[in-house]
Amino acid sequence: MKLTIIGTGYVGLVTGTCFAEAGHHVICVDKDAEKVKMLKAGGMPIYEPGLEELVKKNVAAGRLSFTSSTDEGVANSDVIFIAVPTPAHADGSVDLSFIESVSREIAGAMTAYKIVVDKSTVPVKTGEKVAETIKRYCKAKVDFDVVSNPEFLREGFAVDDFMKPDRVVIGVTSQRPVKAMQEVYAPYKAPIIVTDINSAELIKHAANSFLALKISYINAISILCERSGANVQEVANGMGMDVRIGRKFLDASLGFGGSCFPKDLSAFIQISETLGYDFNLLKEVQRINADQMDRFVKKILETLWVLKGKKLGVLGLAFKQNTDDVRMSPAIDLCQRLQKEGAALRVYDPQAMEKAKAVLKNVTYVEDMNAVAEGCDALIIATEWPEFKKLDLEKARKALTHPILFDGRNLFDPAEMEKLGFLYKSIGRGKA
Ligand code: UGA
Repeated sequence: MKLTIIGTGYVGLVTGTCFAEAGHHVICVDKDAEKVKMLKAGGMPIYEPGLEELVKKNVAAGRLSFTSSTDEGVANSDVIFIAVPTPAHADGSVDLSFIESVSREIAGAMTAYKIVVDKSTVPVKTGEKVAETIKRYCKAKVDFDVVSNPEFLREGFAVDDFMKPDRVVIGVTSQRPVKAMQEVYAPYKAPIIVTDINSAELIKHAANSFLALKISYINAISILCERSGANVQEVANGMGMDVRIGRKFLDASLGFGGSCFPKDLSAFIQISETLGYDFNLLKEVQRINADQMDRFVKKILETLWVLKGKKLGVLGLAFKQNTDDVRMSPAIDLCQRLQKEGAALRVYDPQAMEKAKAVLKNVTYVEDMNAVAEGCDALIIATEWPEFKKLDLEKARKALTHPILFDGRNLFDPAEMEKLGFLYKSIGRGKA
């Protein structure tokens, strides 16, 4: 099929590339001419495992192209996907101005029937607004359908998630676009849920909020574990084996971050308020998340007492493993808090150092994870990169002025760490 994706951020670029990989002909549109130039030249604006190879392969095969012209994208495709950012306003509500302007641009370029699919995360009832806008601004007065097709990709695993989705959600107001949408997703062999647009839009916010709730739930349990001497990983394993609960997203941590959960939670609370419902449960999810970081900082302060004049090593800057994304990263938040307390930082991340440099200043960026501990008073793990499990602990113990390790992601075994001579403090495992 001929498909156009408007917006080449994480979602747009992965979507376009994975559609091309499945055999569709895809045009990716971005109004940022520099980015288009970079993509055309074989450059990548983001780090996402496996993506670069797929972009190259599909560009070479002639199935994937880039342009900054919406007109070109609309004219040459039957299905137009909107994948532009929906950032947050200061009060947590969603800024839909990009969705609105792209809807107008699409409307202005339409000369025949098109299916306009929203992939961006939007408040319930946005599809109705998109349809109204297209109708108003469509000069040619042609038929169109608006479809909601929310995205469930995780950064760092986006290509895999796209190729093997748990489900595909398609929200429609009429049957006309259903067959085409089923064809778009036919290569992926995933269950397709066809529903109304409002339900499709709600599914996305409801799913992300539920996952955030799951993390806050286990983080609250981690407090009880610390107070009772229990082990949160054992509790999560025991809970998770119940198939009704599931083990995933039950890893206690210094809190969730990223460009999705924090933003989507605030948005969903706002959306609920607009619909006349006070979603207090989600406010508690936010509170537990903020509290988790406070508790971690407190743990560091209680152990090291005064940070002024001390040097700390921090492993991890990305908001999670497998990404170079530092937006709303708990690791960056942690670093900034430690800096405020007067600590000097030596930091390392396998992928996110370049992006971190724009937001985290006056720290020493170290190129080798095994060199971070050199001369530090303590080492801190802030991101769950699997390679940190391979840290040379013997070397780290010798390099630290005192063998203290704060683990915000529970990567090591407390008993082993004690045996190796570390004062080891993690999340929800034994006395804090
Ligand atoms: C999330 C959802 O998982 C995707 O399904 C969704 O499509 C995406 O948001 C989106 O709306 O675009 P993402 O933000 O990429 O994906 O990251 P997650 O893997 O969900 O992790 C979010 C945060 O939760 C990270 O900071 C991670 O470290 C933390 N986390 C995750 C925990 O603290 N504990 C866990 O058990 C799992």
